[in-house]
Amino acid sequence: MRIPALATALGLVLASPAVAQTIAPILTTPDAHDPHSYARPAEARVTHVALDLAADFDTHVIRGIATLDILAAPGAKQVVLDDNGLKIVNITDAAGKPLPYLVGAVDKIHGAPLTVTLNGAKTIRIAYASSPDAKALQWLTPAQTAGKTQPFLFSQGEAILNRSWIPTQDSPGIRQTWEAKIAVPKQLTAVMSGLATGKPACVADRCTFQYKMDKPVAPYLIALAVGDIAFKSTGPRTGIWAEPATLPKAAYEFGELEKFVAAAEGLYGPYRWGRYDVLVLPPSFPFGGMENPTLTFATPTAIAGDRSLVSLIAHELAHSWSGNLVTNATWDDFWLNEGFTSYFENRIMEALYGKRRADMEADLAWTDMLAAVKDAGGPAAKDTQLHLDLDASRDPDDGMTQIAYDKGAAFLRTIEKQVGRARWDAYLRSYFDRHAFQPQTSAGFLADLKSKLLTPAEAKTIGVDAWVYSPGIPANAVHVTSAAFPAVDAAAKAYAAGGPVSGVPGKATTQEITRFITQLPRKLPTERLKALDTAFGWNTTGNAEIRFAWLQLALANHYAPADASAEQFLTSQGRRKFVAPLFQQMMDSGDWGHKLAMDIYGKARPGYHAVTQVTVDRITGWKLMN
Ligand code: BES
Ligand code: ZN
Repeated sequence: MRIPALATALGLVLASPAVAQTIAPILTTPDAHDPHSYARPAEARVTHVALDLAADFDTHVIRGIATLDILAAPGAKQVVLDDNGLKIVNITDAAGKPLPYLVGAVDKIHGAPLTVTLNGAKTIRIAYASSPDAKALQWLTPAQTAGKTQPFLFSQGEAILNRSWIPTQDSPGIRQTWEAKIAVPKQLTAVMSGLATGKPACVADRCTFQYKMDKPVAPYLIALAVGDIAFKSTGPRTGIWAEPATLPKAAYEFGELEKFVAAAEGLYGPYRWGRYDVLVLPPSFPFGGMENPTLTFATPTAIAGDRSLVSLIAHELAHSWSGNLVTNATWDDFWLNEGFTSYFENRIMEALYGKRRADMEADLAWTDMLAAVKDAGGPAAKDTQLHLDLDASRDPDDGMTQIAYDKGAAFLRTIEKQVGRARWDAYLRSYFDRHAFQPQTSAGFLADLKSKLLTPAEAKTIGVDAWVYSPGIPANAVHVTSAAFPAVDAAAKAYAAGGPVSGVPGKATTQEITRFITQLPRKLPTERLKALDTAFGWNTTGNAEIRFAWLQLALANHYAPADASAEQFLTSQGRRKFVAPLFQQMMDSGDWGHKLAMDIYGKARPGYHAVTQVTVDRITGWKLMN
C-alpha cells in the first residue's frame, strides 16, 4: 500500500492540521529510498520518540522504555523499525496491552528489522536494553578521560549506528521529534542534542536529566554524553561543556562561539535551534566533530592553544543549516550534507578571519581532494562521484570520503563563480528556508537549482549534472589558490635542496606550516629532519594537525625519534583522520614499520572507539594476526 506522494510530502496524511505542523514530510521518489534502513515509511512511520532510560556504567548497558508515536497509512498493520543488537523485553500499546513483534534476520551492517504489529495502536511502548557492545556507544574507563576519576559515555549516531541504542526508524529521511529522560550516577552530568527541560531530579545515588527536541530531526542526530563535565558560558546563546580538567583550555580555544553563530546567520539566515553549545569529548572521540543539534561534539585535538583549528567549529555550526535543516535523504547523497557544509564553513572563516586564512584552508582542502581521488582509484572511480551508488551490501561509512566534502565544496564554488556571489548567496539562503526540516536528494537539489537559480545555458556551461553524477574532477572546478602558499612552496623546495633552516617558515600559521611539511619530498636525509625538529619541535608539538603532518613525513623516513612520538600521539587520541593514515604509513614501510605498527596498535587499540578500531583493524590485518 502506498500513500499518495503529494499528500505525504505535505505531511498531511492522517494528521489533523494541528498535528501536521510538527510532522515533517518524507520523500517517496525512488532516489529517496534508503537501502540502509528496514523502515517502510510510506506504510507506517515514527513521528516522535520519547525515551525514559538509565545508563548503567557497571554493565555498559542503557535500559528503559522508548515510546514511539506512529503515523500509519489506512490499513497498515505493522511498523518496521531498525534494531542492531537491542534486547527487547516487551512491546505494548499505550494501555499496556502486549503487541506481537518479530526481530528478523541479522545483517552485519544493518542489524535487523523489528516488525511490530500495531493492532490499531498509534503509540507503542518498547521496553529494552542496549547491548554492552552497542556500536553507537563508547563507555570509557576513568583512565581514558582527562580527569582520570570518573567514567564517561558518549553516543555517535551517524551514519546508521543509533539503532544500537534507540529502537526507531533509523533513516535520515524520516524526521522525528524527541524527548528524553536519562538517569545517571549522581556524580555525573548527562547532556543531549536538544534543549534541557528543567533541572536534574536526584533521588538516592541517581540524577535524572531531561531534554527535548521539538523540531523534527533525522534520527542519527539524537546524541547523548554522560560524564564529569562542567559548563562555561561564552555568551547569551553559546557555551562550552568539557571535563573540568579540559574546560579552561577549551573555553579559550572556542571562546568566540557567539561570533561564529552571528557570522553564519549573516550569511544564510537565522539559527533555528535555540542554543549552540560545544561539548569537548575525551580524546578517543573518533571524529573531528559531530554536528549534533544544539550541541556540537568535538575532539580535544582541535585545541591547539592558538585558535588555529577553529574551522572545525565553523564546520559543525554550518551543519545547523546544511545537514540538520536540509538533510540528505539517504547516505548516497552524503555530499549534500558535507559538501554544502565545507563550502559554508569556509565562508564563515572568511567572514571571521579574512580571505587569507579562508583561502589557505580551501587550498589545503584542494590538495586533500586530489589525494582522495587517488585513494578512490583515480578519476574514473565510481566513488569519486558526488552522488554515490551505495547499495545495501556496502556500509555507508565506506563511501564517506573527502570527495563529498571537497569536491562538493568545489562544485558550489564553481556555481558561485558562474552566477556571482550576490545571486548565489541569495539563492542558498532561500534554499535553506524553503527546504528547512526536510530531506533532500541530489535530483531534488539539481531541480531546485535549475528552477530557482540557473538559466538552462548557465546549467549547461557549469555542467551541473556531470558534477553530480560523473566521476573525477570537472575541468571547470574552481581551485582557490592561497596567496600565501607560493612562498611556502618555494621555502620547501629550497630546504629540500639543502637550504638553511633559517629559510623555513617554521613559526608561521598552522596552515602554512602544514603546507610546508606536506610539500617536502617524502625522502629526506635524517640530518635534514633533525634540523627541523630541533628548530621547531614538530616531533612533540601539541598542535595535532602539525604533529600529524610531521609524523607522516618522519615515519616515511624511518626517522628514529618519530617512533616514540608516534606511540605517544597514537595512544593519546583516537581521531580516525589522524590515526588511520599513520598506521597505513607504517604498514607501507616494510618490516620495520610493520613491527612498529603492531607494537603501537597493541597498546592503542583498547582505547579506540569501535569506528576507529574497525578501520585500523583493516589496515593492520589485526583480526587475522590475533
Ligand atoms: N558529520 C561529520 C562526521 C561524520 C561523518 C560522522 C560521517 C559519521 C560519518 C562531521 O561534520 C565532520 O565532517 N567532521 C570532520 C571534521 C570537519 C572539520 C571536516 C571530521 O570528523 O574529520
Ligand atoms: Zn561535516
